[in-house]
Amino acid sequence: MGTMIERQPRILAFAGSLRKGSFNRMLLRYAILGAREAGGDVEELGPEHLTLPLYNGDLEASGSFPEPVEAWRARIKQCEGLLIASPEYNHGISGVLKNAIDWGSRPPNVFGGKVAASFGATPGAQGTARSQMNLRICLSAINVWVVPRTVLVAYAKDAFDANGELKEARQVQALTALGRALVQAIRSGLAGV
Ligand SMILES: Cc1cc2nc3c(=O)[nH]c(=O)nc-3n(C[C@H](O)[C@H](O)[C@H](O)COP(=O)(O)O)c2cc1C
Repeated sequence: MGTMIERQPRILAFAGSLRKGSFNRMLLRYAILGAREAGGDVEELGPEHLTLPLYNGDLEASGSFPEPVEAWRARIKQCEGLLIASPEYNHGISGVLKNAIDWGSRPPNVFGGKVAASFGATPGAQGTARSQMNLRICLSAINVWVVPRTVLVAYAKDAFDANGELKEARQVQALTALGRALVQAIRSGLAGV
C-alpha cells in the first residue's frame, strides 16, 4: 500500500546542469508552477546542491557520507516527488545528475518510492529524448516511479525569448501539465510503494 498523502506533497525540483544560463534550469519554473497549482509544496535546488564529490567508495568507507552528500540525501529523504530537468550528454544523462543519483542510491537508498517527472532541453533536434530514456532506466533501478510522459524542448537556443521565457505557449502548457501530473500521481498513493 502506498502512503496516502493528506498534506501538501513535498517536491524537489532540480536540473542536471551546473552552468549559469542552463536551458534545463530555465525549464524548471514552468513545471514548478504546475506542481504548485496542483497543491505541491515545491523547493527548487540550485546547482550548489548537486555539486558533490565524484562517487568513490572510499568516501563512504568510514560509515558516513561526505557532508554535501549527507545534505543531498537528507533533502531527498524528506520529499515525495522530484521534478528533474535532464540535459543530454552523448545520448545519456549528465555526469552531474548520474553522480547525484548514485550517491542517493547508496544504502539506505533514499530515492526508493519517490515519484518523478522529467523533461529537458537541448540545442539539437532531439530535445533530450535519448537522455530521458536513459534516466528512466536509472530511476527504475532505484525504485522511482516516473510519470510516463515527458516534455522535450528542441532547438533550445531559439526556444527562449530575451527574458529567458519560453516562446511557445504549447511548451509552457506541456510543462505545467507535467508538474500537475506529478502532484496527482503522488496524491494517487504511489509515493512510498
Ligand atoms: C559532453 C557533451 C555532450 C553532449 N551530447 C549531446 C547529445 O548527445 N545530444 C544533445 O542533444 N546535446 C548534446 N550536448 C549539448 C547539450 O545538450 C547542451 O550543452 C545543453 O545546453 C546542455 O544543457 P544545459 O543548457 O542545461 O546546460 C552535449 C554537450 C556536452 C558538453
